[in-house]
Amino acid sequence: MTRRLTRSEANELSEDIGRNDSANPTIGDVIARRHNRRDLLKGTLGVVAISATAGPLALLAAAGEAKAETSRFAFKEVEAGVDETHHVPEGYQVDFIARWGDPVLPGAPAFDPLAQSAAAQKLQFGYNSDFLGYLPMPGAANPSQHGLLVINHEYTSEELMFPGVGVQDTKAAAFGKMTRDLVDIEMAAHGGAVLEIRRDGWSWRVVDGSKYARRIDSNTPIAISGPAAGHPRLQTKDDPTGKQVLGMVNNCAGGLTPWGTWLTCEENFHLYFGGALPAGHREAANYKRIGVPTNGYAWSRFYDRFDISKEPNEANRFGWIVEIDPFDPSSMPKKRTALGRTKHEGAAGIINKDGRYVVYSGDDERFDYVYRFVTRAQVNTNDKAANRDILDDGTLSVARYNADGSIDWLPLVFGQGPLTPANGFESQADVVIETRRAADLLGATKMDRPEDVEANPATQKVYVILTNNNRRTAAQVDAANPRADNRFGHIIEMTPPDGDHAADRFTWEVLVKCGDPSVAAVGASFNPATSKNGWFGMPDNCAVDNAGRLWIATDGNSAARTGRTDGVWALETEGPMRGHSQLFFRCPVGAELCGPAFTPDDETLFVAVQHPGEADEDAKEPGTFENPSTRWPDFKDNMPPRPSVLAITRRGGGKIGS
Ligand code: FEO
Ligand code: CA
Ligand code: CA
Repeated sequence: MTRRLTRSEANELSEDIGRNDSANPTIGDVIARRHNRRDLLKGTLGVVAISATAGPLALLAAAGEAKAETSRFAFKEVEAGVDETHHVPEGYQVDFIARWGDPVLPGAPAFDPLAQSAAAQKLQFGYNSDFLGYLPMPGAANPSQHGLLVINHEYTSEELMFPGVGVQDTKAAAFGKMTRDLVDIEMAAHGGAVLEIRRDGWSWRVVDGSKYARRIDSNTPIAISGPAAGHPRLQTKDDPTGKQVLGMVNNCAGGLTPWGTWLTCEENFHLYFGGALPAGHREAANYKRIGVPTNGYAWSRFYDRFDISKEPNEANRFGWIVEIDPFDPSSMPKKRTALGRTKHEGAAGIINKDGRYVVYSGDDERFDYVYRFVTRAQVNTNDKAANRDILDDGTLSVARYNADGSIDWLPLVFGQGPLTPANGFESQADVVIETRRAADLLGATKMDRPEDVEANPATQKVYVILTNNNRRTAAQVDAANPRADNRFGHIIEMTPPDGDHAADRFTWEVLVKCGDPSVAAVGASFNPATSKNGWFGMPDNCAVDNAGRLWIATDGNSAARTGRTDGVWALETEGPMRGHSQLFFRCPVGAELCGPAFTPDDETLFVAVQHPGEADEDAKEPGTFENPSTRWPDFKDNMPPRPSVLAITRRGGGKIGS
């Protein structure tokens, strides 16, 4: 029996460009069968299947296990597998910073899953945290022990949040069990949060009553700035100015700026829109290219602005990168339209050698693109206010990966190349509103779902995390996306010439191809020293430590797919151990790992555990409020699983993983 989709699976539903609908069995199907539930039950947590047949890479890996002690990662690797709780290496401890429903603002009631309300949720910690960013408190005695934690609340999982709702059928828009009250709770559980946190001894805690504590949700007023601000395509009945929108949705990853602000990225915003455009409407091609409407939520049943038959322009007001100043709780967030409108995964940046700020962003969809934005002005490192609107003016480009190992950054500038009235672009506003169509015309390279794109300040290299693409056919393979039916993803390393992140041309190479290296058909490549626990599939987010190593968070591992839950794997980037990875943190069943973020001293790693309690995809029914696959972290009969943010430290102190 095929069950309906879980929320996180539904979040991947979109208009697939270049979709392969063939029913042929794929390599991925073969691999999936190797990690099925029976293997899990008969062996030690799923890794037994790996030794059944050994390809050449497996033999290399086996030979290399004896050399693993040469890794610079001085922690005992966690064993890969699946169970109902989280795991860290020996000698490490976990503090819970916040769980869904924990009080954030004054007057917030204690969480009661059977008496939820939007009014309470607006004051409480939201659902499914993704990006995490730590900003030291100015003047703190130790900047790595007192600061602000900024947190994205990406989306909601109705089946796990609310009693009696079950799983939505997103294709049929069968939202019969969703009520206006439940939708209002969902809207309040989206957005973001700011927490003031402190480390006392070895334990982190939230500062009660902090003046910085903040919740932003799907109804918070947000300004629109940059080239699309005020454009008629962004004007609505509620906002004839086109300059202010209520809320942000599906805020996935993001970034921190050197001037102390938080960039938070709207990703799968298409899910929230329903209805149909009036016949012949000018947004038809625009919305088709980005998947609006998808009817992934019930919001359009209760709020006209999410029904494109009633408010055709509202969907142009989502899909942006939002800048927030967490040190000024009264400040209005701003959607920075100069950075383009896509399903932005993240917005990690770096100050270029010439002083300009460079933001990288992946557009997370099968066959979509990698983008770069370079500010016109230089960052003023002495005057925060001088950088207030620096992100409103600059050049957005998209990447073309060439087979000779070079990358061309193609500028998305009105009037240049095909971006002219002949192709329906009348101004830079049109270019940023229809970023994807503009990039199509420029000939950008279709990638295997670009997630985080993060610069490594230690080496100036830039990592592109490509999570997977099971729709790429053999005929669609290219140099930068070298595997058909890419179930497990890969990581590309880009090198700017002389460390110039604004250069027109970079070079690139593949760092690792993910999946089980012991199964030759997968075609994975890790350093041979990587153990049976150390490989991973579906890389998603990452953090870079001060030694220039990557810490990879994954989304999509499971008993059936890889014999392991998602987690954090530490990955060497340089030297003889380049491409070696080790499992550092393991999620409870059903969960995805998001937001890895270090304190400046690398002594704390913050992580976000999303949607614990979903079922593995080989289960007949998904996890629900009544029957979740785990009740982590509370493990109480009447308490549903709760997405949570954790701080990981070493007992007795020291850098993480050193
Ligand atoms: Fe929200 Fe691309 O993950
Ligand atoms: Ca992600
Ligand atoms: Ca994800």
